[in-house]
Amino acid sequence: MFDSEKRAVVVVGAQWGDEGKGKLVDILAERADWVVRYQGGANAGHTVHIGDMQVVLHQIPSGILREGVRCALGNGVVIDPDTLFTEIDELVADGIDVEGRLYVSDRAHLVLPHHKLLDAETCAGREIGTTGRGIGPAYEDKIARRGVRVLDLRHPDRLRMLVGRGVAFANMQLQHAGSSRRADLENTLAMLGRIAPRLLALADDVGLAIHRALAGGAAVLLEGAQGSLLDVDHGSYPFVTSSNTTSGGAAVGAGIAPMTIRGVLGVVKAYTTRVGNGPLPTELDEELSERLRRLGNEYGATTGRARRCGWFDAVVVRYAARVNGLTDLAVTKLDVLDTLDRLAICIGYEVDGDLHTEFPSDVASLEKAMPRYEWVDGWQRPTSDARTLAELPKPARAYLDRIEALVDAPISFVSVGTRRDQIIGLPD
Ligand code: IMP
Repeated sequence: MFDSEKRAVVVVGAQWGDEGKGKLVDILAERADWVVRYQGGANAGHTVHIGDMQVVLHQIPSGILREGVRCALGNGVVIDPDTLFTEIDELVADGIDVEGRLYVSDRAHLVLPHHKLLDAETCAGREIGTTGRGIGPAYEDKIARRGVRVLDLRHPDRLRMLVGRGVAFANMQLQHAGSSRRADLENTLAMLGRIAPRLLALADDVGLAIHRALAGGAAVLLEGAQGSLLDVDHGSYPFVTSSNTTSGGAAVGAGIAPMTIRGVLGVVKAYTTRVGNGPLPTELDEELSERLRRLGNEYGATTGRARRCGWFDAVVVRYAARVNGLTDLAVTKLDVLDTLDRLAICIGYEVDGDLHTEFPSDVASLEKAMPRYEWVDGWQRPTSDARTLAELPKPARAYLDRIEALVDAPISFVSVGTRRDQIIGLPD
């Protein structure tokens, strides 16, 4: 993905999240100097398999697993300070050196206990089926200019005032929602007092650091979380997360100029999954959904929830290719489909008798959408040992060719298993 011109590259999910971005970031990070998260927070769950070890990362960029790569959480991320250090300590216990190469934007907002309480206790969280990590309420406070940023930890009096205001507002909302639970200012301040020295030691002007790195010729990978269809502007609103997951969010959330980004890799599963509520037009019947869930181990990395499974939806991915400006596509989990005798690709939606080939802006249309399918043959042979496209069975190649044509983006990588080496398309 990197060359002498392309020094900043974004990796985004081009469906509803869980596409396997962690594995692609891990592979591409071998050639990167920096890996930067630009949005979301501990709602993300990036699973990376290294040999027999499985590492699940929630807030720390997957690049941390590559020695010497610098990692950063940009200003667009909402940081849960408590669980950040649990994650760091677990990585250190696994022998991964973290401190000294992990940076946190001092402009990033904090997710505090009252945000998690609100996420759990108010009906907004339940209706959307959020991860319960306080992400929505933390972004709400950011936009309402009621938030607490990392840099506020440097000023104890200001911190008390800001957290006090946030806790009071949250308690008012909890009362309004009929909840008997309340957030506690002193407990929150005590937790922040404990973590402040460690967090401030990581705090930096991340945008400036990346700008200088790029000026010096460094390769920077911007790691998206969730998926394009969960983008607060472009996704299936209101069943979305609270940030801009698409590539436009990468410049804003990392603090760099948009024109510096020259490559956008969209990661898609060879089928579709979704966790949480909201429409999924190509959702399978429970029997086939359960079969794919078992074959693909489709359980949420953050919440353990069973993922809903569906056929590949080319309407969704073509839309994601457009709004992200995808320059490349990575198709993951092709091997999960190895035993199926035939496969469907959704090429359009029938809504009230009309055929739509563009993703609708109104979720009500999506809820009514009846997928129009094109059926293709399965290959019924294992693909996990293939390392070149030529080694794939012919029907698998035809399936990929059809996806490429329908979504109008070139496939540069195909993942055929969970291991680092189970990938097709790596440059020499
Ligand atoms: P929130 O981001 O926790 O507010 O959840 C909003 C919606 O995004 C819910 O449908 C979640 O299931 C979904 N979501 C959030 N993070 C992820 C993720 O990393 N993978 C897949 N879905 C996610």
